[in-house]
Amino acid sequence: MILVTGGAGFIGSNFVLDWIATEGTPVINLDKLTYAGNPANLASLKGDSRYVFAQGDICDRTLIAGLLQKHQPQAIVHFAAESHVDRSIHGPGEFVQTNVVGTFSLLEEARAYWGALAEPAKSRFRFLHVSTDEVYGSLGMNDPAFSETTPYAPNSPYAASKAASDHLVRAYHHTYGMPVITTNCSNNYGPLQFPEKLIPLMILNALNGKPLPVYGDGKNVRDWLHVSDHCSGIRAALARGKLGETYNIGGNSEKTNLEVVHAVCTILDELHPAGAPHAKLITYVKDRPGHDQRYAINAEKIRCELGWEPQERFEKGLRKTVEWYLANGEWVRGVISGEYRKWMDTQYG
Ligand code: NAD
Ligand code: TYD
Repeated sequence: MILVTGGAGFIGSNFVLDWIATEGTPVINLDKLTYAGNPANLASLKGDSRYVFAQGDICDRTLIAGLLQKHQPQAIVHFAAESHVDRSIHGPGEFVQTNVVGTFSLLEEARAYWGALAEPAKSRFRFLHVSTDEVYGSLGMNDPAFSETTPYAPNSPYAASKAASDHLVRAYHHTYGMPVITTNCSNNYGPLQFPEKLIPLMILNALNGKPLPVYGDGKNVRDWLHVSDHCSGIRAALARGKLGETYNIGGNSEKTNLEVVHAVCTILDELHPAGAPHAKLITYVKDRPGHDQRYAINAEKIRCELGWEPQERFEKGLRKTVEWYLANGEWVRGVISGEYRKWMDTQYG
């Protein structure tokens, strides 16, 4: 059994489905079900005895202690977080609470649980912390990609809260010997992503004939990692990663935001023609404050040490993602709730 936090979110739910399909061992999912958590993501596991759901907050130490005692997991895979940069600009408090205090609470209870385990369970136990490349700050166009030794320089409240959580995880290894591993990955895309992030937001706005809001000049660069590759990277780190180490996980797919938006439009022109090209909907809007220029990942360490490489090419992965959103209208209608509309009004007017 493994304990996953945030398993009802985008990456967490893809990971739970992937884990049950590949490893086949039971998963307990601790998730608060914030606006980003959606039980429908895991509807296909209904009635599967290998999946247990516990609704709750990672800041609730009594709840965490109870779950660990009851289920005796051999690993914790920690996804739960507030994850959207724009929301962290509007309201950073929740980010400090969940990402910093929540990770601290989880670490404390994991330390107590792990400390009391007998061998061989004690040596087998792992705490895998899922983090982001945003902790490294912003790159210039000609800078080398982020490596595991790039100094931390987070620029948004989101990135700063993730950096703080990474530091706590690191400290629990150095101080208490806890068996931790941290992964720092680039921008994920794929099915089940909440449409506040770039790719699903552009797909849904384009389908509805709404403006496609590109921040600033659209030349900011992100590295895009298909969520299935992220899941296999986490499994590799969990199975073979060295304790106390960090691993960067990237997709070898650097694109400007404009390139991504045009690619979405071209696929939709073919799969869902609208009369006029979808790219006509592109609208330049006010830039995000403190907008990082470029993220890029050097994933040599995980490739050389753990034999992991991304399998999905961006062009193919993006097409499959657009197809998924076209085929899953019911899921989409389910997430475009009052809460979603409120966010769209706050952010885009
Ligand atoms: P998400 O926002 O889609 O999901 C987050 C999940 O955590 C939701 O199910 C939510 O209900 C849950 N959650 C939030 N606060 C909680 C709390 N206090 N207690 C319990 N559960 C809580 O996020 P995601 O995109 O799936 O990201 C997962 C992890 O991966 C995060 O740690 C994020 O920082 C990291 N990450 C994401 C990306 C990306 O591109 N999405 C890139 C790099 C790293
Ligand atoms: P996002 O998906 O929010 O991920 P992150 O900020 O974590 O990289 O945004 C990806 C890029 O797309 C980022 O440079 C901001 C930009 N962006 C837009 O131009 N318009 C939008 O409406 C959104 C949500 C993002």
